[in-house]
Amino acid sequence: MVSNKVNSNFGISLMALIAVVVLVLVVNGLAGMMHKPAAPDMSADAVAERIGPVARLNTGEPIAAAAPVAAAPSAARAGKDIYATTCFACHDTGAAGAPKKGDAAAWGKYTAKGIDDMLKNAISGVGAMPPRGTCGNCSDAELRDTIQYIIDSL
Ligand code: HEC
Repeated sequence: MVSNKVNSNFGISLMALIAVVVLVLVVNGLAGMMHKPAAPDMSADAVAERIGPVARLNTGEPIAAAAPVAAAPSAARAGKDIYATTCFACHDTGAAGAPKKGDAAAWGKYTAKGIDDMLKNAISGVGAMPPRGTCGNCSDAELRDTIQYIIDSL
């Protein structure tokens, strides 16, 4: 009979639903037991640190000199490192039609002009290459070192 069939299907669905809910509860409970958060450190020092003000009044002690800012590195970075953080995006993959590092044939027409010309184009940008090869904070000398690194790979 039709109505019986509907009823038994409903019963099976209900059991399946209950089974899923029970399973979720059990898994959740187990996961909860395994990931107990560490008890917070309630020592006076730790609490004072957590609720302390974000700034303190300076009452005359000389303020320590700020650490040098990373954006303006005092020592020039090596061409190899600049290449590995910036230029590789195009010159390792050939993206945007860039000549690949180590591909002497592809670099031939550039190296033929000499490094000074290459540097000038790298600084101003050329074709699909943005100015400074996207290394906005690279000095001219750092770019020259990086181009030399590319040339040395050929
Ligand atoms: C967005 C991709 C891209 C990035 C990043 C990139 N280049 Fe290029 N580069 C190119 C393409 C494309 C060319 C070929 C341009 C052309 O000839 O039209 C090129 C060409 C050059 C040339 C030859 C320029 C010439 O005309 O003599 C030099 C040198 C060069 N890149 C150096 C670098 C250096 C150094 C970096 C990292 C600081 C760098 N590139 C990062 C895409 C890139």
